[in-house]
Amino acid sequence: MSKDVFTHHRPQWKTHIGFLLAAIGSAVGLGNIWRFPYLCYKNGGGAFLLPYFIALFVVGIPLMILEIALGHKMRGSAPASVAGIDKKWEWIGWWQVILGMIGILLYYAVVISWCVNYFFFAFSGAWTSDPNAFFFQKFLMVSSSPFEIGDLRTPILFGLMLVWFFQWLIVFLGVQKGLERANKIFMPLLIALTAIIVIWSVRLPGAGQGIALYLRPQFGKLKDIRVWMDAFSQIFFTLSLGFGVILAYASYLPKKSQIVKDSFIICMVNCLFSVFAGFGVFSVLGYMAQSTNQPISDVVSESIGLAFVVYPKAISLLPAFSREFGLIFFAILVIAGLSSGISILEGITSAIIDKFHYPRKVVVSVLSVIGFLGGMIFTTRAGLLWLDIVDHFVTHYGIIIAAILECFLVGWIFKAKKLREHINHCGVWELKKWWWDVSVKVAAPLILVGLLLTTIFEEIAAPYGNYSRLATIVIGRDWILITVFIALFAASSSWKVDPRHRMLDLEKN
Ligand code: ALA
Repeated sequence: MSKDVFTHHRPQWKTHIGFLLAAIGSAVGLGNIWRFPYLCYKNGGGAFLLPYFIALFVVGIPLMILEIALGHKMRGSAPASVAGIDKKWEWIGWWQVILGMIGILLYYAVVISWCVNYFFFAFSGAWTSDPNAFFFQKFLMVSSSPFEIGDLRTPILFGLMLVWFFQWLIVFLGVQKGLERANKIFMPLLIALTAIIVIWSVRLPGAGQGIALYLRPQFGKLKDIRVWMDAFSQIFFTLSLGFGVILAYASYLPKKSQIVKDSFIICMVNCLFSVFAGFGVFSVLGYMAQSTNQPISDVVSESIGLAFVVYPKAISLLPAFSREFGLIFFAILVIAGLSSGISILEGITSAIIDKFHYPRKVVVSVLSVIGFLGGMIFTTRAGLLWLDIVDHFVTHYGIIIAAILECFLVGWIFKAKKLREHINHCGVWELKKWWWDVSVKVAAPLILVGLLLTTIFEEIAAPYGNYSRLATIVIGRDWILITVFIALFAASSSWKVDPRHRMLDLEKN
């Protein structure tokens, strides 16, 4: 096969806005509406915004530029891009997409399935009498230990089937007809629905109390290293960095692309969306505190319960249109979840197509069946506990280690300067050496290594989340190790076409 097949016949976004919407769709997800508000509250309200925005500027934006530029220059998915630098390190690219698929998407699709179920529950207000008991005992039927697996929960399983069907369909249809078209519908809808909810919420009585809690700085919390760890891992999760998504999306860009400008737009829209959605969430909590006469700190949950327990409870207390409010809120979660889910599926799909040249339709179909079957463990009665442990290990270790390796590879092996020259050759916004090279080569990796070591020491002192040490080892650490083994295996076979042939040399082309 000639190299032209890859340089000239790669799918491309039909429009620039199509790429931007797809990348924003990947970034804006459950992480913005479900994870960000409770992390913000847990870590000192307004004080969390400081490490969050520091993380955004020190690692988030530089790594977004890195991933877009690398995918664009190498015209390939994560493994193809990394193999284009040096085949020895190809496994890192595989590890990223496998972390996305097995480490994140398997459980992420299950959380979307919960949202699908809650969307239907909103019609009847099924949770109204006791949202806490409804979520944990009736809906999830959570077992008391991760090793008490129990039965599959049929409603969650059906929801999961639906989620995988939609993800399959969109990725099956390809870049323009599937991903681009879906995001052109999803993103405006998501923004419009979120605006409705936020405007509605901030006008509720008591909203001011909730917003004050959301934004009130508690600078004392900044001394706690866990606040910083949460901020940095949230930035990776929310920007879809470190799991091979952005590289694949960038590989479908045309030669002339605005890498720096696009990176800023994607990062800023995503993070401002989080902050904006947070106003809606905390206004409703303020309203709830006022209408139940409780102090607000008593009504806010620091966990998963925020979206599925506290929020439904608040919705049921609304004086009017509570059903409509519930429907819109869970529709937002489903749309945000799906637009991120499809991007993770595309990351691994494009990796397999790049290396093994199987047809897209076959690859997506097989991956979707694997994804559905693999996700079944999270639909059991122990599912919530597994999900919590896997999420913690993937976001606090997997993605962070993958990002450190990515910085090392691009900064030192490929050379940050070479990629910066490519970036500056493409676009109008010039990337400065003092900021980007220093960040990619030194600042980002050092900070990430520091945070990683701290997490490891904390974990040695006390296992995560009061689980038994055995559970965190078998479910958390071993889950990550399995992804490493699969990556090494995928990297061990040889390429049909040398991945270095993909490289785009703008000065010559
Ligand atoms: N970036 C996606 C999210 O925030 C994964 O949910």
